[in-house]
Amino acid sequence: MNHLTQQEVDAFKVDGYLVLERYFDPEHNQRIKGDVDRMMENGISPANRLEIFLSYPELGLLTSDPGIVGRVSDLMGGSRFTHHHIHARWQAEGEPGQPWHHDYEQMPQSNRSHLMVHVFMYLDGLNGEVGDLLLLPGSHTQTMERTAPRIFGYADLPGSITISRLAPGSIVILHSAIMHARRPKPGGVSFRRYFVDTSYCQAGILWPGIDDIDTINRIALERGYDRDGRYAWLYDSSQFYNARQVWLELKEKNAGSLALVLGPRDKLH
Ligand SMILES: [Fe+2]
Repeated sequence: MNHLTQQEVDAFKVDGYLVLERYFDPEHNQRIKGDVDRMMENGISPANRLEIFLSYPELGLLTSDPGIVGRVSDLMGGSRFTHHHIHARWQAEGEPGQPWHHDYEQMPQSNRSHLMVHVFMYLDGLNGEVGDLLLLPGSHTQTMERTAPRIFGYADLPGSITISRLAPGSIVILHSAIMHARRPKPGGVSFRRYFVDTSYCQAGILWPGIDDIDTINRIALERGYDRDGRYAWLYDSSQFYNARQVWLELKEKNAGSLALVLGPRDKLH
């Protein structure tokens, strides 16, 4: 292990998250914000990975930030993993919330054998305006559909925590299966809630991927986001399957007990 203490790794296993305040130095932080500002000015969708990789190099390079990759590697127990996505935007006054949910990619949601993490980056920190981050520590050990906890809206839940204050340049690393929400808050006339998130999937299984993942990964390599090949393994499309296609096929079989559909039936008698 290089970047995290054993205590931090153990805490992540139990709680499902780690807060690292002032992770980015001010100068780097400012460069990232510059890319987010340009994206917003140009009306680019926050989830447009293709455009992010093509035209916003500070954001592209964030996907292989050595300090983040090192910490994620520690959490993955040293095993390899692949980059899943980057989203970037700022949020301002009147931003609606995002109710309780989780972001672990699996189809159907059935186990937590392999680790997926999200890295939430708050470039201007949090100050109690626009939106607070709600987390339910420990909830990453449960298996449920991503939107199952939506019914709880933005409410405090037994054991949940509210993160409303963070220094600029802070990051929060989350187990993707942890229940979290963005609670809308008043204010934000002059505050921009800069938010970038990246995510990573542990090697060893195939993960649900998007249609153009090949193209996106090819561009990442062409633009040098792999840092001279050091992190080329982060942009490995072979770790994904086409989620849209597979879901269409699975939908037809998804009735009753999937174990009977997928498992060795003769052993069940
Ligand atoms: Fe989320």
